[in-house]
Amino acid sequence: MRLQLTLPLVIAILLASICAAAELPLMPWPSQVSTGPGSLLIDSHFAVSLTGPGATDLRVKRSASRLEERLFRQTGIPQAPGPAPAKASLQIVVEHPKPGIQQYNDDETYHLLITAEKATLTAKEPLGALRGMETFLQLIRASENGFSAPSADITDQPRFPWRGLSLDVSRHFLPVPAIRRTLDGMAAVKLNVLHWHLSDDQGFRAESKLHPLLQNKGSDGLFYTQTELRAVVEYARERGIRVVPEFDIPGHATSWFAGYPQLASGAGPYEIVREPGILLATMDPTKDSTYKFLDAFIGEMAAIFPDAFFHIGGDEVSPKGEWTNNPHITAFMRRNHLKDLAALQAEFNRRVQKIVATHGKRMEGWDEILDPDLPKSIVIQSWRGPKSLAEAAHHGYSGILSSGYYLDLMQPAAQHYAVDPMKGETEALTAEEKKRILGGEAAMWEELATMENIDAKLWPRLAAIAERLWSPETVTDVDSMYRRLEATSRWLELQGIEHRSQPLFMLQRLAGAADIETLAKFAAILEPVKGYARHRNHKYSSLEPYNRLVDSLAPESDAGREFNQTKDRDILRARLTEWRANAEAVLPVLRATTLLSENVPLAERVVELCRRGLDALDSRLAATPFPEPDNKSEILIAFEPGVRRLTGAAAP
Ligand code: ACM
Repeated sequence: MRLQLTLPLVIAILLASICAAAELPLMPWPSQVSTGPGSLLIDSHFAVSLTGPGATDLRVKRSASRLEERLFRQTGIPQAPGPAPAKASLQIVVEHPKPGIQQYNDDETYHLLITAEKATLTAKEPLGALRGMETFLQLIRASENGFSAPSADITDQPRFPWRGLSLDVSRHFLPVPAIRRTLDGMAAVKLNVLHWHLSDDQGFRAESKLHPLLQNKGSDGLFYTQTELRAVVEYARERGIRVVPEFDIPGHATSWFAGYPQLASGAGPYEIVREPGILLATMDPTKDSTYKFLDAFIGEMAAIFPDAFFHIGGDEVSPKGEWTNNPHITAFMRRNHLKDLAALQAEFNRRVQKIVATHGKRMEGWDEILDPDLPKSIVIQSWRGPKSLAEAAHHGYSGILSSGYYLDLMQPAAQHYAVDPMKGETEALTAEEKKRILGGEAAMWEELATMENIDAKLWPRLAAIAERLWSPETVTDVDSMYRRLEATSRWLELQGIEHRSQPLFMLQRLAGAADIETLAKFAAILEPVKGYARHRNHKYSSLEPYNRLVDSLAPESDAGREFNQTKDRDILRARLTEWRANAEAVLPVLRATTLLSENVPLAERVVELCRRGLDALDSRLAATPFPEPDNKSEILIAFEPGVRRLTGAAAP
């Protein structure tokens, strides 16, 4: 029978191909993608070829050889022995070299064409090849005839040139392997800036040879040697990631003062701080010796971090801090006609900016540093709200957005995904002003995160932010995002990211001799409380263990979200029945150990919520008011909104 190409059929075929493209497990979603029939088989004869003037770049060569290792991880298929096949299955062409330090606006475009015969990846410059290799690897899947990559034609480029992660290693130190893993994950989702928050009140994490008391008195021995810092920069560079160091001054600087109290505005002595918060200790902006010290230190770090930008922090100088009560400082302010603390900080920033510029760098800082007297070369990182981003751009400054991208607040991926640097206040900017918005950075503050659970705190949500910053503005379908996020999450774990295994490790430790299946199922319907709520009832310190159930939880429960969204009563009933039985079964496990026993009331409440939900499905009215959560609990029951909806209970 011959197929008649009627209009409805053409539409159906078109729709099918769009749907097929929609099913590709890609994140970030490319700017243009179409799929065709067939797929490229990945077998033991798979080989990569590199051609073009840019293909000799070390980043391309190393990424290509890593691609082969990662392919093995993804498929388990070893390469056939003997000479490489005559025709490579992945041909990478890099048209132009791009030697030197990676710049924030280096070209990242690529074209990836996959047919049943071969894949061709063409990039203008090395970075594009790196990005395209990630896309290729993401496409590989187990299919009916083995592992394969679907036929596809992808033209891709980032929406924003600056797509980063601000990573705090002061509140909790992260050893180098965790940094490397994070860089691997970042490269996988095409992020290109690691903003390394290396000092804060709780620890100074970089080795200084000129001022060794910084790390010797400021870090409990938990710091990166200069050799390690350089190795991380190199590791990042090979993955197309810039490293911008941040040394936070003049506030958040207690760790500087542990070894060098003369830098502070107070009398001291100082020790590194164990608790989070806005501290009073503040660098003395009135003494020339402060700037002399900073000049030497920034020079030392500028030689280690080749990036064009240097972040000086600048956030949260306490209005009640050391600047207020020091007569020497108030006299300085009067003498220099500095009307308030903001003016004093601006004066400090102007001097620091000159030092940073002397060492060949552009200064970056949190939005508090925004001040019309600073040169337009600086970059403003907007965190207190998107307004400062618009303000910065309007006044001629480059800016990046972090407000709305704080991963430590344990918000769902969809919430971050909805935040767009070009929406809200920035919409009113002129085209010229809009060009100054370079992108954004997710931020991970580590007061409550440790080296044991950092991957689970970052991933997979960070991939959704990466998509917001890379993909076209029109890519906003949340359901599609979650489908692809799930695929990306699985893929990231295959790449060595431990976000799925870390919680299981922690749960196994909590469960002791008990089987973790029940506990893991219980944990899967829970989430940590949002925002800063964990600090409400407990004064956390960096010295205490973070080994409780709440520490092992993923920030977002997929099961809870799916329950809250579905209207299918059979699914609702099945889940509630299953979760009630599991919560009853987990009770003895919880009661058996000290660490878990605090969660007994939580499991009892899960049982009660399930009972109420099932009653509501059976049209039985509850005789008693909805049981409200204990406001001391650090854990949320993720499906509670769905039960409230079923039972007609108002939101808490
Ligand atoms: C910040 O969150 N204090 C930049």
